[in-house]
Amino acid sequence: MNLFDLTGKVAMITGSTRGLGETAARALAKAGADIAVCGRNLDDLERVSTEIQATGRNATGFELDVLSKQKVLRGADRVLSHFGRIDILVNNAGTNYRVPVLEYPEDKWDLIINTNLKGYFLVAQAVVPQMIERGYGKVINMSSIFGKVGLATQLAYACSKGGVEQMTKVMALEWAKQGVRVNAIGPTYFETDMVKQIRNDPKRFNFINERTPMGRWGYLPELEGTVIFLSAPASDFITGQTIYVDGGWTIW
Ligand SMILES: NC(=O)c1ccc[n+]([C@@H]2O[C@H](COP(=O)([O-])OP(=O)(O)OC[C@H]3O[C@@H](n4cnc5c(N)ncnc54)[C@H](OP(=O)(O)O)[C@@H]3O)[C@@H](O)[C@H]2O)c1
Repeated sequence: MNLFDLTGKVAMITGSTRGLGETAARALAKAGADIAVCGRNLDDLERVSTEIQATGRNATGFELDVLSKQKVLRGADRVLSHFGRIDILVNNAGTNYRVPVLEYPEDKWDLIINTNLKGYFLVAQAVVPQMIERGYGKVINMSSIFGKVGLATQLAYACSKGGVEQMTKVMALEWAKQGVRVNAIGPTYFETDMVKQIRNDPKRFNFINERTPMGRWGYLPELEGTVIFLSAPASDFITGQTIYVDGGWTIW
């Protein structure tokens, strides 16, 4: 058995129209999986799936907004009708809004929590039953260093990611005997649209470099190995864990 081979597996990645989700989708395709690219932007769905197909893998785009249970169920059903199964689910769709606690608007709180936390639960509820039926599956929940440590202005985001890590443990416990492994990844800052403003602000950019033991932001390809590892047979006896891909940020 090749410990890192995903040939014949189907992976569904939410929010894979750009950023870390797109990186995860491309990584899983490289390891051999067929890919359900999920998101809201139809042009990006087409672009990412076409580019993955060009590497010789099956990839199809599916419209899926994690804020609506109905849309989640419809999207997951379409993926299942198309591929016949989902072996790997990467819960990744997320968003952020950064202001101090006393200024935090209620509607932004709702948006962040509903997207980053409730959205993961809704997608898992739609996808995991068929994994349980087959007795095997992998769920990866994209957390963040802010699932473990705090930072000013990250109120709803840090609460959502702390919740994701607890959700990961509860799901892992409930499905451990049914073959479904549930783990989380906690990345530090990687250059994506979500953190563009911070990347373009020299003061904040340098704060992150200085705060990180390895002295820099992550490069997108540095996420690939962990995504493949947690999706592959190599991690079959690991569940309920978070792996931080963070250049050491969460050591202290
Ligand atoms: N970048 C970082 O430094 C970093 C660090 C730690 C953790 N993360 C986590 O990694 C994940 C991806 O972040 P990113 O940096 O790649 O962000 P990004 O570049 O802004 O991409 C976010 C993705 O999520 C999708 N999305 C947002 N709201 C959605 C919704 N309601 N329904 C469906 N899809 C939705 C977006 O699709 P649309 O195009 O439709 O908006 C997009 O594909 C998030 O969970 C984030 O918290 C990121």
